[in-house]
Amino acid sequence: MRGNVRSKIAAAVVPATPEAVIKAARLIRNGGLVAFPTETVYGLGSNASDDAAVLSLFTVKGRPFWNPLIVHVDSIDSATALVDLEERGSVLARENWPGPLTLVARRRSGCAISRLATAELETLAVRVPDHPVALSLLATLGCPIVAPSANLSGFTSPTTAAHVADSLAGAVDLILDGGSCRVGLESTVIDLSGPHATLLRPGGVTIEKIERLIGPLAPACSRTESVTRSPGMLHRHYAPSRPLRLNAHDVRPGEVLLGFGRVPGATLNLSQQADVEEAAANLFHMLRALDRRDVTVIAVSPVPSIGLGVAINDRLRRAAAGKDEPVG
Ligand code: TXA
Ligand code: MG
Repeated sequence: MRGNVRSKIAAAVVPATPEAVIKAARLIRNGGLVAFPTETVYGLGSNASDDAAVLSLFTVKGRPFWNPLIVHVDSIDSATALVDLEERGSVLARENWPGPLTLVARRRSGCAISRLATAELETLAVRVPDHPVALSLLATLGCPIVAPSANLSGFTSPTTAAHVADSLAGAVDLILDGGSCRVGLESTVIDLSGPHATLLRPGGVTIEKIERLIGPLAPACSRTESVTRSPGMLHRHYAPSRPLRLNAHDVRPGEVLLGFGRVPGATLNLSQQADVEEAAANLFHMLRALDRRDVTVIAVSPVPSIGLGVAINDRLRRAAAGKDEPVG
């Protein structure tokens, strides 16, 4: 498994049967890389405590080493063995796990998670994914899995096994196919390691829900500060290769329109009913579908920043950022 990751034989996409999950756990135990479905997006998993496996994961994704990974566990108890969630984290965990929420907290001394996986930070990002395949893989393996989204660094996240195969088929050991991801964009990341709970990435759990549980989040920090606190918050990310034009009210020559609501002329529509949850589930696969050679620009209708609309607009802004911006 270890050795030259580039020489791996193209990994098969296999249905996530119980037998395939057992095989996946064996591969991960031996240092391999397995793509698997979660409720948010597909993750590319390795054994969280195996430095060599983590190194190959960063290499395959082309991910900078200063951008730490999320540790996936199967229960709140497994998470609290790694980090001290304290009061606020325990409330958030009880109300949202399994689910699309990642909590950043101080790692416990003696915690065995690879320092390479966490970019040598004193904090650790953890979550319990809400997907039967992810949970049975974690239970079968019996130890935490680090998993970034299963795409090349900086590009659109995968919400189907076929998306994973498009960019990573020759470089990973197995791709478990569990169908389309229900939520469709990544987990919300909340930093609890400081005095004020801070939103590092909007995602599948709404800000309103989090604030109902633990009170107001710290005001959005400056871009520089948020990049330092969560290196993944880089400006350009989630990007298709065609440029995007956001808040489009018309379609210009050479453009295709990704609509929202009842707009005329849309090639694809995130949600005819203007439902932000439906739009989130459609976002990444529709961006991929419109990222064609014959298209010069992908125009996108305005999406209201309400509920999951906040995370949708965050992803669209980063996907639209200039190519000279740093890529995470
Ligand atoms: O929904 C998700 O979260 C998916 C699925 C596969 O679980 N994973 C995912 O991972 O989106 P990734 O690697 O694409 O994004 C992880 C984010 C990055 O923005 C990273 O900088 C941040 O979490 N992060 C990880 N550890 C951190 C830490 N200790 N402190 C601050 N930010 C951290
Ligand atoms: Mg990602």
